[in-house]
Amino acid sequence: MAGNAQNTNCEVTLCGIPLPNPILAASGTFGYGLEFEKLTDLAEIGALVTKGLSKEPIEGNPAPRLWEAHAGMINSVGLQNVGVHAFVRDKLPKLRQLPVVVFANVFGYASEDYLEVVRVLNDAEGIAAYELNVSCPNTKHGGIFFSNDPDALKGLVSDVKRLASRPVIVKLSPNVARIEPLALAAEESGADAVSLVNTFISLAVDARTRRPRIGAGFGGLSGPAIKPIALRMVYQAAQAIRIPVIGMGGIASGEDAAEFLVAGATAVEVGTASFWNPGAAAQVAKELSQFLKEQGIARARDLTGTLRF
Ligand SMILES: Cc1cc2nc3c(=O)[nH]c(=O)nc-3n(C[C@H](O)[C@H](O)[C@H](O)COP(=O)(O)O)c2cc1C
Repeated sequence: MAGNAQNTNCEVTLCGIPLPNPILAASGTFGYGLEFEKLTDLAEIGALVTKGLSKEPIEGNPAPRLWEAHAGMINSVGLQNVGVHAFVRDKLPKLRQLPVVVFANVFGYASEDYLEVVRVLNDAEGIAAYELNVSCPNTKHGGIFFSNDPDALKGLVSDVKRLASRPVIVKLSPNVARIEPLALAAEESGADAVSLVNTFISLAVDARTRRPRIGAGFGGLSGPAIKPIALRMVYQAAQAIRIPVIGMGGIASGEDAAEFLVAGATAVEVGTASFWNPGAAAQVAKELSQFLKEQGIARARDLTGTLRF
């Protein structure tokens, strides 16, 4: 692998979409992208994933919504968003002007919700792919999570694939005993890629008030604390399926990103790190390029799936 490559090339093709590099800004940590225009150079990241979009606007959960844990963060924002119609009308026209590839993150509480959002997005220009957040309870079927049940996931992904005019990435939850059946269910229903991990369900307790530190009770743990578990799950998913895997969970440096590529990811997403440094995703991209140069690796994709036990 080592050698003296003169040029390193971070370009990757993901689901047929050419990207300048494999570093994406993760959903829910990068607003609608517009908020970051003045804070970072968007041209330096591979793509951005929007905040999750639903059929109707959602106000979100009661405060406090964030709690800083050791080496991580617990959040329960409650999927607050302006709704897909306002996104297309008010945000997308500005987003289209920016020099960055846009992926839209989509969620709902029944298949029909996802389909409605995708139908609206299909008619809009300026989106390269859809990322489905399936870590939501299916309210039509007793609240079972799409992300926990291979059959429910298959139903949802097949429905969306029939309608979607763009590649569909299925974002998997880590809150399962085994990730492989879910990754396989996504692949078998036609998903173009999977991304993982979403946050880990967690609880922060204030022993003095004897109450949860998050307004909604439980929250999702993200950040460096989850990286080793995320790496394990990305590796297992990549071993189980042939479609591309997008890895995430605690990535804050170029070398973190390289670890996920080695474990089997084709691209990665940077989430929580953007909270303490809005330029984190761009910095990770730059550092990955330096890492490849140092290691004499010609292309980022040469790292993918090279882990040996
Ligand atoms: C405040 C916050 C909001 C998030 N909102 C969403 C969301 O709307 N949709 C989604 O699919 N993931 C959402 N996520 C999950 C992240 O995209 C990512 O999967 C997770 O945080 C792990 O990556 P990280 O450790 O780099 O943050 C959110 C995460 C955080 C911290």
